[in-house]
Amino acid sequence: PIKHSKSPLIHTLFAEQTQQQLQYSAVEAPIAGFEQSVVEFFNQGGKGCNVTVPFKEQAYQLADELTERAQSAGAVNTLKYQEGKIIGDNTDGYGLVYDLQRYLDLKGKRILLLGAGGAARGVIGPLLAQGVAEIIIANRTVAKAEQLAKLFGDYGVINACGFADANGPFDLIINSTSASLQGEVPAIANELIHAQVVCYDMMYKSGNTAFNAWVNELGAKIGI
Ligand code: ATR
Repeated sequence: PIKHSKSPLIHTLFAEQTQQQLQYSAVEAPIAGFEQSVVEFFNQGGKGCNVTVPFKEQAYQLADELTERAQSAGAVNTLKYQEGKIIGDNTDGYGLVYDLQRYLDLKGKRILLLGAGGAARGVIGPLLAQGVAEIIIANRTVAKAEQLAKLFGDYGVINACGFADANGPFDLIINSTSASLQGEVPAIANELIHAQVVCYDMMYKSGNTAFNAWVNELGAKIGI
């Protein structure tokens, strides 16, 4: 959520380090006025913007052109104005894969992906492209996990189940649910979490998320 975003600070520091002139600020679009906010932003000379929940699917609809990874994700987190057109991109999956490589080589690994919403959808393609052995999507609403597994079934080995039915061992567990926002953790078995598994929460906040605090207690390696 925008109130939660550290992007203005992050991008201001990046610009300083790379000697670019950049002004980056957070804009809270009204829930029914996303499109109007984007149009106003570009009309006022905005070069590009990032989009966060709950507008990533609307940004996908709004774009005149989509990059391949935005098409596969079904969501857009980056809009830029170029020669009279709004171009939609999605850097979420690429960013996650890049960060995960600090902790493990993804090739041949068995991955448990918790959650089946927009955040999960955005990362499945980039994970499969790394040659992972299998992705199991576990979700509170199993039907949504099944739909997502079907959608990407042609691109790799991908299966779906409920939290209680996730059978290990896994090399990597990614939490893409928004449960951490409510201070909750997905109800997977404690046995799945141990010293040999890397755990990664896609949600961030200052201090530990509920998920990171939980897996830390069980001795997992945490990607932060
Ligand atoms: P996002 O774009 O951040 O993925 P979303 O599309 O609303 O947001 O998806 C939220 C995900 O978090 C879903 O997988 C949701 O589970 P359901 O599909 O069953 O709704 C999951 N989620 C949210 N709160 C949760 C909780 N308290 N425990 C477990 N899963 C939760």
